[in-house]
Amino acid sequence: MALSPQWLDELRARVTLSTVIQRTTKLQKAGREWKACCPFHNESTPSFTVNDQKAFYHCFGCGAHGDVIRWMTDQRGMGFMDAVKELAAEAGMEVPAPDPVAAKRAEKRAELIDVTVAAQQWFVERLASDVGAKARKYLASRGFSDGVIREFGFGYAPDDKQALPGALASFDEAMLVESGMRIAADDGNRYDRFRDRLMLPIQDARGRVIAFGGRILDKRDGVAKYLNSPDTPLFDKGSTLYNLYRASPASRKTGRVVVVEGYMDVIALANAGIGDAVAPLGTALTERQIELLWRMVERPVLCFDGDAAGQRAAMRAATRALPLLRPGHSLGIVRMPQGLDPDDFLIEHGAPALEKLLAEPASLLDTLWSFERDAQPLNSPEEKAGLKARLLAHVDTIEDQDIRSLYRRELLDRFSAFAFPKRESSWQGRNGQKGNGWKNRNFPARPVTSSAARASLKSLAGGGNRDALLSGVVAGLRRFPDQLDRHCEDLADLAERDPKVADVINPLLDSLEPLEAGEETPISATTGRSAPPDNIRFAFLREGTDPQAARDILAEAVSLLVERPALEAALAAATARFSTDPEGAFADQQRLLKRKLEFDARLGQMASMRAAADDETDADSGTDTTAPTPETADSAQ
Ligand code: UTP
Ligand code: MN
Repeated sequence: MALSPQWLDELRARVTLSTVIQRTTKLQKAGREWKACCPFHNESTPSFTVNDQKAFYHCFGCGAHGDVIRWMTDQRGMGFMDAVKELAAEAGMEVPAPDPVAAKRAEKRAELIDVTVAAQQWFVERLASDVGAKARKYLASRGFSDGVIREFGFGYAPDDKQALPGALASFDEAMLVESGMRIAADDGNRYDRFRDRLMLPIQDARGRVIAFGGRILDKRDGVAKYLNSPDTPLFDKGSTLYNLYRASPASRKTGRVVVVEGYMDVIALANAGIGDAVAPLGTALTERQIELLWRMVERPVLCFDGDAAGQRAAMRAATRALPLLRPGHSLGIVRMPQGLDPDDFLIEHGAPALEKLLAEPASLLDTLWSFERDAQPLNSPEEKAGLKARLLAHVDTIEDQDIRSLYRRELLDRFSAFAFPKRESSWQGRNGQKGNGWKNRNFPARPVTSSAARASLKSLAGGGNRDALLSGVVAGLRRFPDQLDRHCEDLADLAERDPKVADVINPLLDSLEPLEAGEETPISATTGRSAPPDNIRFAFLREGTDPQAARDILAEAVSLLVERPALEAALAAATARFSTDPEGAFADQQRLLKRKLEFDARLGQMASMRAAADDETDADSGTDTTAPTPETADSAQ
């Protein structure tokens, strides 16, 4: 299927978004836009807006955001291709034809799906019949409601090796084998794969049954608790998530998706009213599954059993995700307490307690940090160095440049705080003190006085938001030179990509003392330092802002400065992926556009902080106007 970005743009341009939305949601004209009470969440005052020029809708309440295709998939619950087809018909456009090989494969799949769908129906009938009594009893013991039992399509496969050929007589033996329902042994014998098992249908993203899991009813030695369909033309374990079909609309409402380890956990959660859960199918989470999750939300919450296996699984998922991280995508990690799995936890503590755990997942970074910190003893310098090496080995697997440098910085910060706890901290430092390099690495050796820096700062006056942001950052760094080192990697990366940034940032970075090869410690960190110039004014700050808060605001300003180009790059990458993976690229594009909007809102906030700080300055002195000018800096010397 070749849906190019150009073709999709044409489609968006030909359909008027508000017209499509009006069909199900009443819109009111508001200037150039339309307004409504948001159809994605409950509200009484309208915060949902539709902009036909930009061809996007956006809700300021719940953050729902998208174009006309997204509207059809999210609000109308259609599949991506179905949405595209319906809109194309409306716009009088022809959907590009799929290639013949793909068409052949689709035909094959359609035939095999008939087999699994028929098998599902038969298993459900068996569960309701006399042979199903034992399975019904087992199900009752798990405490699922009738509604949930029906919804999840439980069935029963009777204890009979040759039941299916008779039950599914309209399909030949080859199809029964190819769909994974029968096993063809080497000796030529054929028999039913699932026997005397409680059957759980596995559905694709559109809700069609494509495979099964079967659970034994009572423990028997040497018999696996669960048996799953093998990979077939219909079913690829590594790219399927159990319950995706129900969880994906649910997650649009909650803005969350929970990943648990087992089928029964998913069902237990649904039984407790938590509908946005999925599970992999007996394997560790694959890259493809992580990608699927990221199409739903930016930060899926992985929920692991509270045992040693759960801990290993959490780390496996974390290390698998690292190379894939892109701006705005991460994972949250929750570990069940006391060796429980989510199903047990619900029984013991109830749904509100689980909701609470799910609401506060550990970050990926926290998970890496605490796992490695606790993995080995840390008594000797060698052992501490080992921890550092393990942390950096994780960092090295991150492909995204920005994220990699942010991880490196944060993990090294934690490492140094942990391995070399602060004994003293003062601006003056101590002359000639040995062995305190870590403590002092944040302090540049001399204040920034280079005339090159001053000259380039001059060129910064005026300009748009970004210029203001950049000059604010420069002023902030001059006001708080202890922060230079913290941000130097981000800023150096940025300077490499943006000559305008390079002009003003490089002189600042040059003022940092050179580092010895492979060392974190400035050669002469302890000498020649003087107090920071107190009266450099950092835009965005009101008089008397507490210095720690000021440093946080500076960090926010730096991250905004760094994030914009990263976002642009990610958007360009998503667009480039359109021809090979239209659905994935589309989902990414939507998410990134939304992020850009949020980003602009944060930028707006920064701008108004700056305006407020400026006003105050005007009122205070009447002379000291916009902050980060070289002149105010000069007066510091
Ligand atoms: P668990 O043993 O945690 O299963 O395996 P569970 O979901 O808690 O099941 P109950 O509560 O005992 O019924 C987690 C997942 O690992 C796979 C299954 O996908 C299961 O849901 N698994 C487990 C297998 O594929 N085969 C097995 O023999 C066991
Ligand atoms: Mn369980």
